[in-house]
Order: sequence, then C-alpha cells, then structure tokens
Amino acid sequence: MKLKNVGIIGLGTYVPENIMKNSDFEKIIDTTDEWIRTRTGIEERRFASETEATSDLGAEAAKAALKSANISAEDIDMIILATTTPDYPIQSTACVVQELIGAVNAAAVDINAACSGFVYALTMAKALIVSGMNKNILVIGAEVLSKCVDMLDRNTSVLFGDGAAAAVVSEVEDGYGIISQFLGSEADVKGVLRTPAGGTRKPLSQEVLDERSNFLQMKGQDVFKFAVKALPKATLEALNAAGMKPEDLDMVFPHQANVRIIEAASKRLEIPMEKFYLNLNKYGNTSSASIGLALGEALEKGLVKKGDTIALTGFGAGLTYASMILKWSY
Ligand code: UT7
Repeated sequence: MKLKNVGIIGLGTYVPENIMKNSDFEKIIDTTDEWIRTRTGIEERRFASETEATSDLGAEAAKAALKSANISAEDIDMIILATTTPDYPIQSTACVVQELIGAVNAAAVDINAACSGFVYALTMAKALIVSGMNKNILVIGAEVLSKCVDMLDRNTSVLFGDGAAAAVVSEVEDGYGIISQFLGSEADVKGVLRTPAGGTRKPLSQEVLDERSNFLQMKGQDVFKFAVKALPKATLEALNAAGMKPEDLDMVFPHQANVRIIEAASKRLEIPMEKFYLNLNKYGNTSSASIGLALGEALEKGLVKKGDTIALTGFGAGLTYASMILKWSY
C-alpha cells in the first residue's frame, strides 16, 4: 500500500516588537557586546511585553501560517504546539491558541522536546496524517524564554529570545513533502540544561525563589559538546533514511543556538556554511521556534523554492535531537 505524501503547505512566523540589544545587557550584568557577538553570533533578540504570553506569539504565527496555506482555522483538526515555556503549568498552550484563532474543530496538545520540538511536532503530525487520523494539522513552535531565564545570570540571559513559527501540515502531491525523519534522545542525567525547580521535583517555594532555581540553568560547555555531535548525527541519520547524501541538500535550517556550533557541524558534514541559513544574530536562541523562524525568513526572501531539498535539524534540552528531510512542496 502506498503511503500518503505529507508536507508543509503554509508557514507563518511572529516575533514581538521589543528589541533587546547586546549593549542593553551591559547595563544589567557583567558582559559586553563583543563577548556575546564573538562567542555566539548573537547581536540582538526580541523580548515579549509584560502582557504577551507564549500563546499570543503562537496565535499570531498560526494566523500567518493559515493565510499562507490559504485555509481557515475551522479546517484544522489538530494543533500540536511545541514549547518549553507554556502560558500555564496546567492547561496546554495549544488549547489557548485554539481559542485565540477559533480552531473550533481541532484537538489540541502541547509537546516538550525543547529546541528539537518543531521537528518532533512535524514528525508526529506526519504520522497522524499518514494513519488517516487527521487531515490538516497546525504545528507551532512558540516560546517566551525571556520570562523563564534569569536576567541576572550571564551564562544564559544573553543567549535566548522570544518568537513563534507555525506550519500547516497536510497531504501533498507525489514526490514532495517530508521524505524522512530522525528523532533521538539521550537522558540528561547530570542536568546540564534544565530548570531545576518550579515543577513537581522541587515545587515553587520561598527557598526556590531566593536561590533563583525556578530559572533555566545551563552548563554551556557540556551542551556545546553535545550539540556539535548531535547536529551532524541527526542530519546524517535523516539523510540515510532518505537514501541521500549531504551534497544532495540545497539548504539546512539548523537550530539557531550558536554560530560556532553550526560552523562545527558544517565541517563535520562537509556542507558549506553558505547552505546553512542563519538568523540567530537577530533573534538569539528561540528554542522550539528557531527552525521555523529561519525557514519562514528564507521563504520570504525567495531562497527556498518548490522542489528544493532541505533539512531541518534541532538539538536541545532533554537532551533531544531531531532532523527531517523535505522536498519543498510550494
Ligand atoms: O538551545 C539549547 C542549546 N544550547 C546551546 O547550544 C548552548 C551551547 N553552549 C554555548 O553556546 C557556549 O558554551 C556558550 C555561548 C554558552 C558559552 O561559550 P563558551 O565559549 O563555552 O564560554 P565558557 O562557558 O567557557 O566561558 C568562558 C568565559 C568564562 O570566564 P572565565 O571562567 O574564563 O573567567 C565565563 O564566566 O566567559 C565567561 N562568560 C561571560 N563573559 C561575558 C560566560 N558568559 C559570559 C557573558 N559575558 N555573557
């Protein structure tokens, strides 16, 4: 039996208006614009306003994706929202987005695969459509990391930003769409990338607030070592599953954490840097939103065309890693 071809039929993005420049951090913590730029490639990032939550960003990206796909919110039968920074501990952010966009016929669920979340969610959407369970799925990666990172911790505060990307996933014509995917995970037993408190292991208390352990903590070098292996490994696994080689790719959309990680992956994969799309200089690390934000910008610039072969590759907390090969379908 021939399986359905599934692909992205529309994509939308959204970032908050407020720009936080590297130099703005110089007033709060012991850092410099030069350190941030040379160690990460980041120049500025967007921060949500006091009243903006993850669902607000996700809903704006979702509306743009529906417009791009030329379908209405009522046509969506499932929303899969990837986030590490939900609006609430209980009530999924997907359900809040459902209300905001009027997707009255959809089921809705959140997933958390951190910075690999967008690729994990796309993979799940593909499986649901191939199985016949769903027809049109809205995949969203949305984050407001600025409210979950300690602004006084220079190891993390300068790295992250807020944003959202959304894709409408549906059946596409033969020869196009998602060709293959790879999902991986290695449990982070040492806690190199984790928010230690505020969940059920260590619920919120005065002690937690005093030690600021309700904010994300990261051992940067350990994560860096994982990332430089995970990015090439995930991409190669997905390429192998597609029966393809690195040179078959027209473009790669990596998770936008640090330009040095992407340069290392470029060397290992023997794919020139020009094929890696980068916009982390403008948005920083937006976790589950970053790959979609990069892809959306490249589409707007006309850099991805129908028939192009592209890879989406993520890595992050969990520790998770994931990659997907697509033949672009519009
Ligand atoms: O999306 C999740 C995935 N996350 C990632 O992929 C992040 C992976 N890690 C990284 O990108 C890098 O490890 C960082 C950008 C986080 C750090 O870069 P690094 O080159 O690994 O620096 P480091 O941690 O070795 O720190 C070097 C120095 C230290 O000072 P000493 O001990 O040499 O005196 C740090 O205290 O830089 C210092 N430092 C800073 N200095 C100025 C750390 N953060 C800052 C800062 N400004 N913001």
